[in-house]
Amino acid sequence: MELSPNECKVLLTLGQLGREAALDDLRTTGLQQTTIMSAASWLASKGLVEVRETPTTYYSLTSEGRADLEGRLPLERVVSGMSLKELMVSLQGTLTPQVLNFVVGYLKRSGSLKEGVVELSVEARQYVSDGRSLLELLSSRPLPTQEIPSPLAPIIPDYDKRGLIKGKERVVRTLSITKGGKRALKLVEAMEEEITQLTPKIIQSGAWRTTPLAKYDIHTFAPTLPRGRSHPITSAISRLRRIFLDMGFTELAGPFVEPCFWDMDALFVPQDHPARDLQDTFYVEAPSPKLDQGLIDKVKGVHESGGDTGSRGWGYQWSEEETKKLVLRTHTTADTIRYLSRHPEPPVKAFCIGRIFRREAVDAKHLPEFYQIEGIVMEEGANLEMLIGLLEEFYRRMGLEIGIRPAYFPYTEPSLEVVTHIEGKEMELGGAGIFRPEVTAPFNISCPVLAWGLGLERLLMLQLGVQDIRELYANDLDWLRRH
Ligand code: PHE
Repeated sequence: MELSPNECKVLLTLGQLGREAALDDLRTTGLQQTTIMSAASWLASKGLVEVRETPTTYYSLTSEGRADLEGRLPLERVVSGMSLKELMVSLQGTLTPQVLNFVVGYLKRSGSLKEGVVELSVEARQYVSDGRSLLELLSSRPLPTQEIPSPLAPIIPDYDKRGLIKGKERVVRTLSITKGGKRALKLVEAMEEEITQLTPKIIQSGAWRTTPLAKYDIHTFAPTLPRGRSHPITSAISRLRRIFLDMGFTELAGPFVEPCFWDMDALFVPQDHPARDLQDTFYVEAPSPKLDQGLIDKVKGVHESGGDTGSRGWGYQWSEEETKKLVLRTHTTADTIRYLSRHPEPPVKAFCIGRIFRREAVDAKHLPEFYQIEGIVMEEGANLEMLIGLLEEFYRRMGLEIGIRPAYFPYTEPSLEVVTHIEGKEMELGGAGIFRPEVTAPFNISCPVLAWGLGLERLLMLQLGVQDIRELYANDLDWLRRH
């Protein structure tokens, strides 16, 4: 059970009082009445305190009562030894007929009239002095019946009826500790002696050595403190990098802006391929880059006639101008082929996680900018089975089961597509294949090269249960805290 600091205060004060207490008695807590009341209700709901509500009449003076108190009470004006007649005459000017009636009635009732002469009885004299005491008592503040001394109690109804005092009902709340409360009080008292906050003084004085330190309650409610952390995409990239490095891959990287040569021509993508259209690719206006003429010539030969690969090529006029155009890389395969051109000897195992750009209409599954997880394995005897095994193993480590479908890319043969099923629908995760000789021959690569390019965001969508790819980049703070 937890107690708030205010609840502890109220409980401790009740304990010190050692009796049933009115709210007023708890002023020593230094809390406002409403705060005390709310702490008391919490304590009551926890069974530690009993709140008793007693309807009580509070008496106060009326203006008539105050006037009497400041002047003389009607009966105080009565002088013993006067005849009733003389008395009536002397009082007529100062008392109203009703009060005069009361006076005469009272003198009779109390046996203060003997044969027409006024002689105040003991009872009457007591009545008068009690009346003054009562009025005096109530003159400073209203009092509840139980705070009026008992000898005065009998005259209350009478004074009320005469309109000198008036009563008002109020609910009085009193608090008392229950048995459970007493047990809780012991714990609270013990806690009071514990150090809950270390201060320089406590450390310097050495008090911390002798006073027990409060234990941490790890079950206590505490607000969540959002801490700085990586974006889910950033942490996914770190995870992926770890997986590839663990599998013995080398990381490669390249620039966002590439000449068509590396993005397409080196990959045997014909120059009239629809993917090169302005609709599909972002072109960058910038001076032509310097390219290795020897490589250009070899790639040109392959495109036009197949070079010495045994292929017939595309059988068209290849343009050197076209190959020097700059684009935002449309896939990271541009980076792998450049890497291979520099590392033509097996074995090569390399990967690249990088951002690529396509003129896509944005929708729940498409973005114009996204990440690809690219990789190659160049190895003697590498084959399709190995490629599929590799892809399956990779996705298994990411917690996904995949399907393989035949596909077409100008640079691989055979080519395949990695798919997965989500809510009955197929979603494409990426492409893969074995580089064609038309791709590898110009770079003097004679060994088979397994290659793949996989979408990072779609993989993340599946892992995070996100239906719309745009959510990944919305940077909604609530979402980011949850993922
Ligand atoms: N570059 C292809 C794409 O962007 C994927 C791919 C990479 C296919 C390597 C085959 C081999 O979809």
